[in-house]
Amino acid sequence: MKTVPIQIALPEDEYADQLAFLKKWDDGPKPPGWELTPKAVVVFICGGSGLRLENNQRMDIAPKFIGDRSLVERCVVTLAGARGLLLVGEPGTAKSMLSELLSAAICGTSALTVQGSAGTTEDQLRYGWNYGMLLAEGPSEKALVPSPVLSAMRAGKVARIEEITRCQPEIQDSLVPVLSERRIAVPELGDYSVPAREGFCVIATANLRDRGVSEMSAALKRRFNFEHVDPIADKKAEVALVKSRTQRAIADAQALIDVDDAVVDTLVTIFKDLRSGITEEGWSVAKPTTVMSTAEAVAISTSISLAAAYFPDSGAQLALIPGHILGAVRKDDEKDTERIIAYFDKAIQRRANANPNSPWAILWDNRHGIS
Ligand SMILES: Nc1ncnc2c1ncn2[C@@H]1O[C@H](COP(=O)(O)OP(=O)(O)OP(=O)(O)O)[C@@H](O)[C@H]1O
Ligand SMILES: [Mg+2]
Repeated sequence: MKTVPIQIALPEDEYADQLAFLKKWDDGPKPPGWELTPKAVVVFICGGSGLRLENNQRMDIAPKFIGDRSLVERCVVTLAGARGLLLVGEPGTAKSMLSELLSAAICGTSALTVQGSAGTTEDQLRYGWNYGMLLAEGPSEKALVPSPVLSAMRAGKVARIEEITRCQPEIQDSLVPVLSERRIAVPELGDYSVPAREGFCVIATANLRDRGVSEMSAALKRRFNFEHVDPIADKKAEVALVKSRTQRAIADAQALIDVDDAVVDTLVTIFKDLRSGITEEGWSVAKPTTVMSTAEAVAISTSISLAAAYFPDSGAQLALIPGHILGAVRKDDEKDTERIIAYFDKAIQRRANANPNSPWAILWDNRHGIS
């Protein structure tokens, strides 16, 4: 039977060669249960060039997370101290990606994950039962269905809880004994309990746009170190990231097209201006309520490239930006459309007038795409 390729590989599979290399590269002391040293984990995530093994094998590791290296170092130190790590930030700032990369590097798997939602139950954070077996034989260890958290405790690995603040606070609180006593009691089996092995830790993510971390109980907050993940501050770094992600998406789609640098540069400029409420030139503009995330910029840049690949007669790629920007922004608040129009009329028109041969002039000519 023909195997259909998977869409997104887990980082431990995608970067298996890098993880194997880094294991040999730094054979210094590791926190108990870890696959790599803290230094090697940071290099895996933030990159490193000219790495060399004793047998002269060399490797360059490109950065995966673009941002503050010291943030990643703090995350690693938190986990090495077996404290819970909570990555907090706006949507699309790579919190989930960072949590996957940390897990893959620390314990070789990022798959022990619970996706938090309003419907998350205690079973999903602790354990459930195989009801067929439970009815036939009564409660037994065999009938116990472990949650990803319990599996991580048994194996001494990292458990990931995505969007923890979407879970009801009383459900979140079932993590308190996990993080303090490092064991889950199973009263249905008498005094049986599952202890956490060395290496077990928890990485959670929380989105500032959802129900806030303010509703998290003080008991649980105290057991997590909070690390704020901010949008990429450096424009050049954001442009490079959007370009490389777009290239990858084009390759995955097997489309025959090159990334248009002007599209990426223009998009990132617009996103940065609207995110901060102030343009590169220092003009103030109204900020839309929708989040202008790097992830969204990648999505638009990819759509524009694919549109140009599949519909080559549709004209300049830059001309497609206004329609796509409107689609990205008009989500929560009707007034966001007015804010985008105001941005065009203020910033883009001025740039187009100042330089009629610039990409901005093409955007301005296509202003009808947003009205
Ligand atoms: N600082 C960054 N470094 C690398 N990639 C980034 C960065 N910021 C955003 N991205 C891009 O954004 C994508 C989305 O990231 P991810 O889904 O991890 O965000 P998130 O913060 O978990 O968002 P949400 O809160 O919506 O779940 C990444 O796969 C990557 O392409
Ligand atoms: Mg996420």
